Amino acid sequence: MNQKYTIALLPGDGIGPEVIKEAVKVLGSLEKSLGLELALNEVPVGGAAYEIEGHPLPAGTLNAAQEADAVLLGAVGGPKWEKIDFSLRPERALLGLRSNLNLYANLRPAKVFPALVDASSLKRELIDNLDIMVIRELTGGIYFGEPRGVESLDDGTRRGFNTLVYTEEEIKRIARVAFDVARKRGKRVVSVDKANVLEVTGLWRDVVTEVHEEYSDIVLEHMYVDNCAMQLVRAPKQFDVIVTTNMFGDILSDEASMLTGSIGMLPSASVGGKTAMYEPIHGSAPDIAGKGLANPLATILSVGMMFKYSFGREEVNAKIELAVESVLDRGIRTRDIMSEEMTEVTTQQMGDEVVAELEI
Ligand code: IPM
Ligand code: MG
Repeated sequence: MNQKYTIALLPGDGIGPEVIKEAVKVLGSLEKSLGLELALNEVPVGGAAYEIEGHPLPAGTLNAAQEADAVLLGAVGGPKWEKIDFSLRPERALLGLRSNLNLYANLRPAKVFPALVDASSLKRELIDNLDIMVIRELTGGIYFGEPRGVESLDDGTRRGFNTLVYTEEEIKRIARVAFDVARKRGKRVVSVDKANVLEVTGLWRDVVTEVHEEYSDIVLEHMYVDNCAMQLVRAPKQFDVIVTTNMFGDILSDEASMLTGSIGMLPSASVGGKTAMYEPIHGSAPDIAGKGLANPLATILSVGMMFKYSFGREEVNAKIELAVESVLDRGIRTRDIMSEEMTEVTTQQMGDEVVAELEI
C-alpha cells in the first residue's frame, strides 16, 4: 500500500501562491516517483483569508493545519492590510499557527550553494561552504508576552509596551532542540542573548548552560546579540548552530540568510508539536507578485525539510537539494540571483527545471 500523507497548503499573499504552485509541482513529481499518496488540502490564510472570511486565520484553516501531517505555507502580508487592526493583520495568522500548533522551534538553515557563492555581498573566502543553522524560539518571548499594547496617559500622550518573558521550561526545550540538531552537524552551539542588560536572557544563559550538562559532546559558547550580528558578517564560518530568542532569531536569521546571496533561497521548518509547518523565510514581496519574478527555490527546499523532519525521509531532502544544486550549476537563475552569463528564467520555469532534474 502506498504511504499516504495529508499536506495543508496555505499559499497566502503576494508571491505566496506563485511559489506554492511550484512546490506543488515538485510534490506531484515525488508522489509518482516515490509511490506516495499525497492529499493536498488548500486553504486560505493571511490577507487572502481576511478578504474572504474577515479573519487572517479562519477556524477552517487552523483546523486543516491541525489535521494535516504537515503544513506548507507561502507568505502572508501586504500593503493592502497595513492599516487594519493589529489583531486582524495577515501576520497574526502566522503567529496563531505557530502557537496553536505549538511550533516552538524554528529551524532556519543558511547554506551557500557553490554556484551562488558570488551572489553574496561578502567575499567568497568568507562564505564558501558556509552552513549555519539558526534555531529560533518561536512561541514565546516578546512576540507573545503579556501585558502588551498602547495606552493613553493622563497628559494626553501615549505609551506603548511589550513584555519579554521566558519560563525555564521554554528555554530548556529549545536548548535541547539546539543540542540535538548540533549533534547531527558540527557539534557546536552558540547561544545568543543580551545577558548583560536583560534579566530574562540572563536566565536564558543559565538554563542553556544547565541543559548543556546533558550534552558533553557539544561545545557551547554564549554570545551577546550585538556581537553575534557583527560576527555573522565578519567571520560567519565560526558558527554551526545558533540558538536564540524569538525576536533575536527573527533578526539574525534574515542576516544569516543574506550571507548566502538571496533570501529567496532559504527554507525553514517550525517544529515542536504534532504537525510541523514549512515555509520559505522570505516574505510576500508584493512589489514583484504576479510577475513570474519570484524565486520558488526556498519553498521547494521547504518541501525537502518536510520530508526530512515530518516524514523521516532524509534521502528525499537530499535528492531535492541535489536537484536544486544541479539547476543552479547549469546557470539557471531567477531575477534575484541573476548574474552575468547566466540564464534568467521565470518562477514557473524554475519549478519546471527542478522537476526535470528530479525526474532524471
Ligand atoms: C518571519 C517573519 C514573521 C516574524 C512576521 C511576518 C510575523 O518576519 O517569519 O521571520 O516576525 O516572525
Ligand atoms: Mg522575519
